[in-house]
Amino acid sequence: MHDKIHPIPEEWARAARLDTAAYDSLYRQSIENPDVFWAEQAKRIDWIQPFTKVKNTSFELGDVAIRWFEDGVLNVSANCLDRHLATRGDKVAILWEGDDPSESRAITYRELHAEVNRFANVLKRLGVEKGDRVTIYLPMIPEAAMAMLACTRIGAMHSVVFGGFSPDSLAGRIGDCHSKVVITADEGVRGGKKVPLKHNTDLALTRTIGDEKVLVIRRTGSEVAMHAGRDYWYHELAAAVPDFCEPEPMSAEDPLFILYTSGSTGRPKGVLHTTGGYLLHAAMSHEIVFDLREDDVFWCTADIGWVTGHSYIVYGPLANGATSVMFEGIPNYPTTSRFWEVVDKHKVTIFHTAPTAIRALMQGGEEPVKSTSRASLRLLGSVGEPINPEAWEWYHRVVGDGRCPIVDTWWQTETGGILITPFPGATPLKPGSASWPFFGVQPAIVDGDGKILEGACEGNLVILDSWPGQMRTVYGDHERFEQTYFSAYKGMYFTGDGCRRDADGYYWITGRVDDVINVSGHRMGTAEVESALVSNHSVSEAAVVGYPHDIKGQGIYAYVTLMQGVTPSEDLKKQLKDWVRREIGPIATPDLIQFAPGLPKTRSGKIMRRILRKIAEDEFGALGDITTLSDPSVVEDLIANRQNRR
Ligand code: PRX
Repeated sequence: MHDKIHPIPEEWARAARLDTAAYDSLYRQSIENPDVFWAEQAKRIDWIQPFTKVKNTSFELGDVAIRWFEDGVLNVSANCLDRHLATRGDKVAILWEGDDPSESRAITYRELHAEVNRFANVLKRLGVEKGDRVTIYLPMIPEAAMAMLACTRIGAMHSVVFGGFSPDSLAGRIGDCHSKVVITADEGVRGGKKVPLKHNTDLALTRTIGDEKVLVIRRTGSEVAMHAGRDYWYHELAAAVPDFCEPEPMSAEDPLFILYTSGSTGRPKGVLHTTGGYLLHAAMSHEIVFDLREDDVFWCTADIGWVTGHSYIVYGPLANGATSVMFEGIPNYPTTSRFWEVVDKHKVTIFHTAPTAIRALMQGGEEPVKSTSRASLRLLGSVGEPINPEAWEWYHRVVGDGRCPIVDTWWQTETGGILITPFPGATPLKPGSASWPFFGVQPAIVDGDGKILEGACEGNLVILDSWPGQMRTVYGDHERFEQTYFSAYKGMYFTGDGCRRDADGYYWITGRVDDVINVSGHRMGTAEVESALVSNHSVSEAAVVGYPHDIKGQGIYAYVTLMQGVTPSEDLKKQLKDWVRREIGPIATPDLIQFAPGLPKTRSGKIMRRILRKIAEDEFGALGDITTLSDPSVVEDLIANRQNRR
């Protein structure tokens, strides 16, 4: 079978800063001589003190250490703000579009600089010092970016927690890194509905050790409870501090931020990124992958609570002096044309979103798209999950009017920035393929034994050597870092993804091969949902798997064994869904629940998820060997009562 190829459009071939030959040669240099390549690239950053050493990394289990530019000194906020003032002071840095289409704000680099400096001084007043942790639990308002940059100004680590997470999830994340301050808002607004962020924070803080201070941004103006001595209004403190704060000189390997992400166990991991390598990777990939030009208006629709928001709304674009759009709302409010109306309103030139949004909008047909102009668009991006070729073609043909290349960018919270991607102007596009490795990135595909496969093949995706944006550790648990990423295959970083490479050398990500599922581009550990379910007093045991879902990519399928004496009912299913929603957040709500009197287990008691996955996928003709089960008869009951009948 031949994959469809979209050749490089002529005007791109003419104007691109990188053609195919240039990509090949630069890629080769980056692998053959990383020290020279990265020393050159690092000129993108303003260093307070230059580095003398470029790369110092080891993937050996027991000795995993990742250091880049380790004796260099810099400040991230100075790179994102101060250095642009002379030439871009009046250029718009953040173009904010409110949930309500009548609300927007254009914040110039000069204004953003002043506000971030003030914010930094406010944090200092609250006692935040270099190395302290600050949790940010905010809606998509400019203050979220300001809070992040303010932390970097004074050398505090931020930990942004997605505003859709529950008080319990928030409490776990505040506690794990022992944050000194939690920054939140009175409320958030999404799709016309209010989200009680301050109230959630109050609930979360009843479950932490309780010495945190709370800084509250006024977003909606609704009345919220303020606890004297603990809670402070940002606008009150900000009015009393100067708008300059000396940037803290940071070592390239000083921590920049923590971002919690789901893995195979129930407890989220604090992915730690450091200062120099991360910023370089974010800035460089943003410029090259999106072919950034001075007049571009760049819009990444991610939430700042995820890594995509960190690297491609805040750090990459601002380090590059770009105009970054920040959107508070959702794709279908007030109408399903909203994305495209925003594109027209702000003359967006580069638009970056997730496949799940495309698939949802596709269901509404072409009219809501075609009724808008979108003439400003020149490049489209996709991120977060595999994009099916049908959605890719629709995105290309309907949204981009067949004019705009699509960059399908593969990466992870752990990788800091894009690792596999097409390069516009250099890569003929194959719908559904993440295509080629980014500079300095050596992907390989291994079989179950860790043997590296050559040529066209399919297996598990590993990366053979370090790149600057790589995570450095799991916060407070280096052992877990090593075990999670370096123990499966000796001397290699294991991504957790399956992957195919075709005869042309293009990479095709096939999805997670571990117990992580990807629901609407949101990463979810099945173990997290299971532990939420079993914490309900009606539930004795639970096993959660993913199944193919037309819009979400994957849906959440939960097999639940009830406590003795509890009667199964549709109402109980609803209660359990609500329970998980409250325990973790709406994104973790199971789509389907099946009551299962027994789960398929091996004689040693291990749940055989392979079987559960097949039944959830409605592929129970291919269950494989079930003779090793302690009680093979449970399988019949599971099949008979499956929920996903087509
Ligand atoms: O399975 C891959 C999928 O998302 C996972 C990483 O999730 P997260 O850390 O939340 O970061 C998402 C944004 C970078 C990966 O292990 N994934 C991400 N991008 C793609 C993708 N799968 C296929 N194609 C992509 N472009």
